[in-house]
Amino acid sequence: MTSETVGPSPAATIRQRASEVHALEERKPGDDIAVAEPLVAERALIGDAPEIHRLIQYWFETTGDVLPRTEGEIYETIRDFVVVRDPNGRKLLAAGALHVEWRDLAEIKSLVVDPGTQGRGLGRIVVDACLEEAVDLGLKTVFALTTTPAFFERLGFRISGVSAFPRKVWNECFRCPKYNACDEIAVTIDLRDRLNS
Ligand SMILES: CC(C)(COP(=O)(O)OP(=O)(O)OC[C@H]1O[C@@H](n2cnc3c(N)ncnc32)[C@H](O)[C@@H]1OP(=O)(O)O)[C@@H](O)C(=O)NCCC(=O)NCCS
Repeated sequence: MTSETVGPSPAATIRQRASEVHALEERKPGDDIAVAEPLVAERALIGDAPEIHRLIQYWFETTGDVLPRTEGEIYETIRDFVVVRDPNGRKLLAAGALHVEWRDLAEIKSLVVDPGTQGRGLGRIVVDACLEEAVDLGLKTVFALTTTPAFFERLGFRISGVSAFPRKVWNECFRCPKYNACDEIAVTIDLRDRLNS
């Protein structure tokens, strides 16, 4: 093996990861980080998983607005994810997943925006990309369970009851640590008009 093919040492990799996590932890909602335009949603790549995990973990630990996911769960569902990257630095700025639940139903999960780029339309870009994919797949309804229903209402969702999604309750909610004290509100959007157009 030549010296060119040898990657960074494990210790150097850990130091690099530690400084990246530190940089994210130092940011907070309202911080303004410079971002090049235009911003578009892209399909997530396998290399995005650690950063998606870091953003989810950040919001889980700071506000509890998203449920935790292991890095392994993100690899398993990487094809569900779309991301927005800074076109200059290629840094990950936002992510979210469209997870198909049944023949006519999908859920938006793990929606996260970098705390330094909130309020700049990135959440909308991710949700719009998920809805576009849902229409392409022929899905009639998309829902989300959220602590920020007002954000989803701005995007055309309506508040509904989680009991409208019994499969979700049976499949996943029963295993959730928040099951007996759930603070999430179900929001849903009907895509049938878009399917027919
Ligand atoms: C909630 C979140 C995804 C919103 O993303 P964002 O990029 O900051 O939001 P956008 O800039 O795309 O906002 C789109 C619209 O929603 C509104 N909006 C955004 N956050 C809102 C909130 N918390 N309450 C009410 N409205 C909100 C915006 O004003 C904007 O409305 P407009 O287009 O009429 O001006 C983001 O703040 C986030 O990652 N929060 C922490 C994790 C979280 O709560 N995830 C959702 C769990 S399901």
